[in-house]
Amino acid sequence: MKNIPIYNTFIHPTATQKVNEVLESTFLSEGKIVQEFENKLSSYLGIQNPVAVNSGTTALHLALDLAGIKEGDEVILPAQTFVATGLVILQQKAIPVFADINYEDGNISCASVKQKITPKTKAIMCVHWGGYPCDMDEILLIAKENNLAVIEDAAHALGAVYKSKKVGSISDYTCFSFQAIKHITTGDGGAIAFKNKDKFKEACSKRWFGINRETAAQTELGERNYNIETLGYKYHLNDFAASLGLANLIGFKERLNHRKEIVNVYNKGLEKINGINLFTYQDDRESANWLYGFHVENRLDFIRKLKSQNITASVIHQRIDRNRVFGGITRGLINQEKFDLSQIHIPIHDNIGLEDANYIIETIKTGW
Ligand SMILES: Cc1ncc(COP(=O)(O)O)c(C=O)c1O
Repeated sequence: MKNIPIYNTFIHPTATQKVNEVLESTFLSEGKIVQEFENKLSSYLGIQNPVAVNSGTTALHLALDLAGIKEGDEVILPAQTFVATGLVILQQKAIPVFADINYEDGNISCASVKQKITPKTKAIMCVHWGGYPCDMDEILLIAKENNLAVIEDAAHALGAVYKSKKVGSISDYTCFSFQAIKHITTGDGGAIAFKNKDKFKEACSKRWFGINRETAAQTELGERNYNIETLGYKYHLNDFAASLGLANLIGFKERLNHRKEIVNVYNKGLEKINGINLFTYQDDRESANWLYGFHVENRLDFIRKLKSQNITASVIHQRIDRNRVFGGITRGLINQEKFDLSQIHIPIHDNIGLEDANYIIETIKTGW
């Protein structure tokens, strides 16, 4: 019986050669390949002013830093995410404030965000759960009215579109992840998209200790000429990783379309099954379909049944505020509580063919 895992790592057939070229050049640090990768993210995917970094987590942390988030500031986020989204807020000594989500899609609830705003609130971090864009118009309006920064955690949402706008061209800061199992991998890596050119420039130096590679020339003494004025980080991507990313960008749109095909098969096959309640999505936006999730009754039995047929189903992530580091579960997140009890995800990735999707549907149809 074929094993159908929940994730896969996609490596384009040309990747080995591209990575080898970098190895043979012996220039492995941040150089022209990183720039080429950034240019491609922008020209091919419409991501504005992308700055490549070494993970989605560092992208989020750098975005908070650039947004001026500091000790004691409150940042509103959903608990339906990976811990990285909340940990970076703690790393800035700021306070994560968990808002509720929409039961129907797992994204942050704008009504709840409004209720969570206090005089200390400085930013909203929204997460496009599974690749489905949040209600960005409403979020941007709330942010404008309350003078807040918006940081999008688009770790799942490379290639997603909201009202004809590419994710990565909508708000102040959009953070992507190129970790091993994401749509595009660089091994580990990430990028921040910027609306503001000055912030973009600041990011270019802050990702490398605070040194501006363009203006800090080598001196006769043998070191670059720099005088760091604000705290920077070692967050840059390197050419070695970027070469893998460049190879993996080839055919990315076709791969996204493949995911869409699988989604259509799942939607049709699962819509009328007792005990399954599909997520509901608006048709004014296109998900990047990194995940395929829904609500299911008797979830553990469902997972076990699929497992017995070599299919992995997973919650992916449960609410992150259950981790003690966040100071205890936030009470009163009614939709989050319900969502946490029944959400489940089934495999969707490059190795899932239509036959696999149909096999998964037929297996589910036999009951659990
Ligand atoms: C929603 C979300 N945000 C952030 C991250 C962190 O990305 P990375 O692993 O590239 O640091 C992830 C990683 O899986 C994620 O799922």
